[in-house]
Amino acid sequence: MRRLGWGEGDEVITSPFTFVASANSLLYEGAKPVFVDVDPETLDIDPDAAAAAVTDRTQGLLPIDIFGWPAAWPELEALAAKHGLGILEDSCEALGAVDSEGRMVGTRGNFATFAFYANKQMTTGEGGMIVPTDADAAARLRSERNQGRAVDMGWLDHDRLGFNYRLSDVAAAIGLAQVEKLPRLLEARAAVASMYGERLASVPGVTAPMAARGREVRSWFVYVVRLDDAIDRNAVIDTLREHGIDSKDYLPSIHLFPHIRELGYREGQFPVAEAASAHSMALPFFPGMTEEQVERVCTVLASAVDAGRPGPT
Ligand SMILES: Cc1ncc(COP(=O)(O)O)c(C=O)c1O
Repeated sequence: MRRLGWGEGDEVITSPFTFVASANSLLYEGAKPVFVDVDPETLDIDPDAAAAAVTDRTQGLLPIDIFGWPAAWPELEALAAKHGLGILEDSCEALGAVDSEGRMVGTRGNFATFAFYANKQMTTGEGGMIVPTDADAAARLRSERNQGRAVDMGWLDHDRLGFNYRLSDVAAAIGLAQVEKLPRLLEARAAVASMYGERLASVPGVTAPMAARGREVRSWFVYVVRLDDAIDRNAVIDTLREHGIDSKDYLPSIHLFPHIRELGYREGQFPVAEAASAHSMALPFFPGMTEEQVERVCTVLASAVDAGRPGPT
């Protein structure tokens, strides 16, 4: 595996259908995010689109396990191996997800990142984690996050440029306690998702997210449904709000944010991602959600969707 070291002028293939942090991490280093469209079913990078985007300037792949669905890791690794590219896995939304080869995301030997903000499967309040590829990479990351001190160096000794990216001791203590109950936290999310899935199966116009496919298993981060194109998604969100139910148009395609448009990106370039952005919405979702709460959301959603259909012409 090639070590990452992306910088000025390097191009890295990534997804426009993501939280902005993934592409921002490239921009900080002067690397260029090269977006490719996503697969309509998984909403993760389409490996064929990624293959078609490789040029002499491509240095790596930054796929995202969006909404906890594992990216096509075997196909993407084969692509990376063919062209000598580095891989950074953004598994921030997918702790516990399993890929098409039955491997848990973040365990394939690539650099992989996880995030622990309060809305994630487990939290430390803020912060996150990177999984290194080997002992040397681990030592370098430990040093760089700690102002460039090696593990065996004193407080005022520094042998490289570093940063303060330390997770505080308090946050780490919270994280350790969360790890102990992680299986329960993941199960509770899956149980809520399954309640939603059962009820939404009979709601016309609403497509529920898939929980599993073959060996792939989603880790539930958010619960995002897709509405049929003819339904006015924003009107549905407004109706839910009138009933005291918060939902959200989810997720914007990030190539249309001003600082990324500056790189030359425009509407219409990634039709699958843009359609998902236009027609999807996140429903209330948290581990302690009761059956009654899920029932209520689904009932109001069903009538809102019905009302949001275009009338006969
Ligand atoms: C896809 C994705 N990448 C990266 C991150 C990390 O973001 P942050 O650094 O704000 O925790 C998140 C967290 O929300 C995310 O959802």
